[in-house]
Amino acid sequence: MTAINDVTDLSKDGDIAVLTLNSPPVNALSAAVRDGLAEGFRQAIADDSVKAIVLVCEGKTFIAGADISEFGKAPRGASLFDVQNAMENSPKPAIAAIHGTALGGGLEVALSCHYRVAVPSARCGLPEVNIGLLPGAGGTQRLPRIVGVEKALEMVTSGQHVPAKACLEMGLVDEIVPEGKLRDGAVAFARKVVAEKRPLKKVRDSNEKVEAARGKPEIFAKFRKDNARKFRGFLAPEYNIRCIEAAVEKPFDEGIKVERELFRELVTGNQSAAQRHVFFAERSVWKIPGIPDDTQTIPVNKVGIIGAGTMGGGIAMNFANAGIPVTIVEMQQEALDRGLSVIRKNYENTAKRGRLTMDDVEKRTGLIKGSLKLEDLADCDLTIEAVYENMDVKKDIFRKLDGIVKQGAILATNTSALNIDQIASVTKRPEAVIGLHFFSPANVMRLLEVVRADKTSNAVIATSMQIAKKIGKIAALVGVCPGFVGNRILAQRQREAQKLMFEGAMPWDIDRVLYDFGFPMGPFAMSDLAGLDIGWIKEKSHGATIRDVLCEMDRRGQKTGAGYYDYDENRNAKPSPVTEKIIKDFVTKSGVNPRQISDEEILERTIYPMINEGAKILEEGKAIRASDIDIVWINGYGWPVYRGGPMFYGDTIGLDKVLAKMKLWQAQMGDAYKPSALLERLVAEGKRFQDLKQGE
Ligand code: 3HC
Repeated sequence: MTAINDVTDLSKDGDIAVLTLNSPPVNALSAAVRDGLAEGFRQAIADDSVKAIVLVCEGKTFIAGADISEFGKAPRGASLFDVQNAMENSPKPAIAAIHGTALGGGLEVALSCHYRVAVPSARCGLPEVNIGLLPGAGGTQRLPRIVGVEKALEMVTSGQHVPAKACLEMGLVDEIVPEGKLRDGAVAFARKVVAEKRPLKKVRDSNEKVEAARGKPEIFAKFRKDNARKFRGFLAPEYNIRCIEAAVEKPFDEGIKVERELFRELVTGNQSAAQRHVFFAERSVWKIPGIPDDTQTIPVNKVGIIGAGTMGGGIAMNFANAGIPVTIVEMQQEALDRGLSVIRKNYENTAKRGRLTMDDVEKRTGLIKGSLKLEDLADCDLTIEAVYENMDVKKDIFRKLDGIVKQGAILATNTSALNIDQIASVTKRPEAVIGLHFFSPANVMRLLEVVRADKTSNAVIATSMQIAKKIGKIAALVGVCPGFVGNRILAQRQREAQKLMFEGAMPWDIDRVLYDFGFPMGPFAMSDLAGLDIGWIKEKSHGATIRDVLCEMDRRGQKTGAGYYDYDENRNAKPSPVTEKIIKDFVTKSGVNPRQISDEEILERTIYPMINEGAKILEEGKAIRASDIDIVWINGYGWPVYRGGPMFYGDTIGLDKVLAKMKLWQAQMGDAYKPSALLERLVAEGKRFQDLKQGE
């Protein structure tokens, strides 16, 4: 065995050369890996005793792509194109041996080999779209030449990881070799290729499948139309489609030029920078300073939930989906029956859509038991209180749980606003108390805010993060403050939306600006969807706010066919002249002169105070890192991922710009706009949120 460099070895198995990469964690195509590949192939080709070359990886996976952390930095090492050319033009058969995942640049390297073998558990994909990119090493030109245009379009725009068996059926892989025997299997395959004098298959020369789609623009038109909703706002899917069009309409080398140019545009643009930021943010969110990975956690084998309402039921489904038995406690039989039947109906609806079998429905509902007695939660490892937001009620429940539930268990609350330190204070074990703030619908929304109270123990925090992962959530650890991280920032946007309405903007103008920014809907459409009467009390309503007036008129949102908007029978929203008049009357009465408000101002007024609040949250240590706040807003509130979250967006537009506006508004409208000290400091130091070091 010869070491080519720190991450590459070359060895021989008879007359087959085996080039082995070992660059943990995922064998990404760093400069060292590219150098190793270039030199390894050069030596293997130069060695007359070598008849074929196998490329295999150590560790958990084949090459999982380009090294994402290298993007945006000065180029170093061998160029990937040169490496691929050396493989493709090798006079000896080159065989990629795939385990784990061959992704992005990894699959593109494999596609530059003449043959590919894989173990059954391997998966292949071009997931660049998920980081705002397109496969920039020939993937968009080679993939459709093997799998055809329709399949290629689907793969590059979804980023899906295709299992080995399906890859074999599509011709992406030539042979499946036994699990655990990849190296030997690949060498045996290489011997067969040599013995049978199989051709040096270059994917680039195989034109049949792309020619079949030539002159058929309708294929692309239909694909664009079918996916318009899904792709809204994103640049990368469209650019991927254009590359596949180029593969169809142009010779290979011309197609490569299009791919390179569009890749360059994406990789230097804001969207990909944002999506790459999110890729790393999703991974760092799990890392908790002061709580090492090997912290002792509490085994969670049985969960108790208090409250069978919408939240409680949704939370229960998460655990049942993960195979963990749940007991839900309600006070009245009727409410319990209602809650359990909603859960069953939800599962049955999923089954109707073909995403669950009826067998699964039975298994999951079978894991959820109902009870009217808190005592039935005595042997739970985790209890989650999900009753309505009332401090006295919650304290009462925690006092009782403290006397009932076994020692060592976690006592969690799903409160979205109340002070968890106060809740913890009524128990004799405040170290066991934590907030698990699920988002509605709790069985669907990916975010979980894990709220650490003053005395919460490390084991309870570590277990909560672990359990979040187990039930498929992305969790951010936050501290106790009004609204925690997500709702505290939301309050800023809501306040500004309301204020703008009083200054002359209409709800649909504000909604349109935020929709165009990339949110799934604006705040007023959201209120209509949720119901304007949430928290509204008829007896106490005297037309003091616009919402009061709307509710009094029975315009309570989508469910009553009218709210801020008017709705037709298909729930399509139309700006409402009734609402417009109500708003105008209010504004006139308050003596304000309504003014024309530009889209730019609406955007700045709704978004900048959110960024400023995020900075205050960081300053107070209520979030660990700026990127955790981004994770909260992307996964809990529909912030467009291609804008990277509010904090990343602040960095993108320039914190000096945000600060200047906050100062201006503070002077005009008061201390609600007071800039955060952290924001001031970062601007003074010419830094961004991304530049903040841990604990700074
Ligand atoms: N570049 C740099 N670092 C990477 C990386 C990459 N392509 N892929 C993963 N990592 C890092 C992660 O940041 C993480 O680091 P950490 O331990 O310091 O947090 C570590 O590797 C392990 O990653 P995961 O936690 O994600 O490990 P999993 O086992 O859960 O998943 C995986 C493995 C499926 C390979 C997943 O990491 C993944 O999807 N990676 C990205 C794949 C990708 O997007 N490839 C395309 C890159 S772009 C490209 O190839 C351009 C080309 O066309 C020119």
